[in-house]
Amino acid sequence: MPENRAAWQDEVGTPLSIRPTPYQTDLTPTQILIKPHAWAINPADHILQDLSLPFVKYPVILGEDIAGTIEALGNEASTHFQLHDRVLAFAQGATKGAAMGGFQEHVLVDMAFTCAIPGDMSFAEASVLPLGFTTAAHALFNGGTLGLPRPSGDFVSGGVGKRVFIWGGASSVGGNAIQLARAAGLEVLTTASRGNFEYVKKLGASVVFDYTSGTVVEDIVSELDNGGAPCVGIFQAAGSNDSVGPVIEVARRAKGDIVVITTSPLQDGMVPEGVKAKMLFGNSHDDILDMWKLFLPRALKEGKYIVAPGPLIVETRGLEGIQLGYDILKKGVSARKVVVLAD
Ligand SMILES: NC(=O)c1ccc[n+]([C@@H]2O[C@H](COP(=O)([O-])OP(=O)(O)OC[C@H]3O[C@@H](n4cnc5c(N)ncnc54)[C@H](OP(=O)(O)O)[C@@H]3O)[C@@H](O)[C@H]2O)c1
Repeated sequence: MPENRAAWQDEVGTPLSIRPTPYQTDLTPTQILIKPHAWAINPADHILQDLSLPFVKYPVILGEDIAGTIEALGNEASTHFQLHDRVLAFAQGATKGAAMGGFQEHVLVDMAFTCAIPGDMSFAEASVLPLGFTTAAHALFNGGTLGLPRPSGDFVSGGVGKRVFIWGGASSVGGNAIQLARAAGLEVLTTASRGNFEYVKKLGASVVFDYTSGTVVEDIVSELDNGGAPCVGIFQAAGSNDSVGPVIEVARRAKGDIVVITTSPLQDGMVPEGVKAKMLFGNSHDDILDMWKLFLPRALKEGKYIVAPGPLIVETRGLEGIQLGYDILKKGVSARKVVVLAD
């Protein structure tokens, strides 16, 4: 059995500890064992290095985004994938146990969160998608969140004639949300810093607001109230606590009853009467599995989905690069995803 090493977060406040770790070889029918060739890093990874959250038990192997090759498959998984296939996958070590944590050399995932990588796409590019895609799909399409019409298999959609407003379109979650909303036929309004206006338009946004402008809330409300298509939801995809207030204010001032979904916590007293707002919490993604199974493989294969934001590759390869990647992400990135190559 090949050796496995993992990057453990032993407790809050310590650097990652890389050490030999046994891995699971008895797979359930739907499980897949992947050897990652690239890992992408998400804000949640470094946040959980500095701050504990109630649903995470330490020591833990974090890491949600992997792209690599298949080393073993359960019976059912082998009817959809083959040994050595190139795949991207959503790893879930924080909620499903160490064997399913992404930052290790052999990662167990469920076939429901695994997707083939098209021939011309690198592992680094493919690794940027899993959490951003899942989070955006959950926010837009899950029945308990915005519940918007989703793209159907043939990309004909029920969202035509409606608008959605996505705060933070240059982020990983925001860029996926823009593309998914467009695939569903919705018109997309978003915010970004000026340097990323063209980038978010390339992803499909039709109107972009500079979130650093002092009049950003008024500008968005005025656009939403201009008599265009009805706005069917607001998604705060980025900007942490700084952007929750502005999106709530947009919902309060704009005409109509627009539901707000946030990626950041809603503090007590923040949501005034008459505004419906809810923080996204992605414990179960059952409601959006069709997006992984039907939409993503086909959209990637047909070149209808841009892998965005592009990878920002950490100089050090292997698990030793992950802590360096955290340090880069902590300083902040603009329309890039920090990626570590395994070999
Ligand atoms: N609740 C959940 O289930 C869940 C799941 C995944 C992620 N998240 C959270 O979602 C957020 C986004 O994650 P991510 O990986 O997409 O982040 P990211 O890609 O690292 O975000 C960086 C981008 O955020 C944009 N940004 C920064 N401040 C902003 C502001 N005040 N308003 C608008 N945009 C701003 C920047 O845009 P410019 O470059 O244009 O300035 C930058 O490109 C994070 O807070 C993360 O913790 C939550």
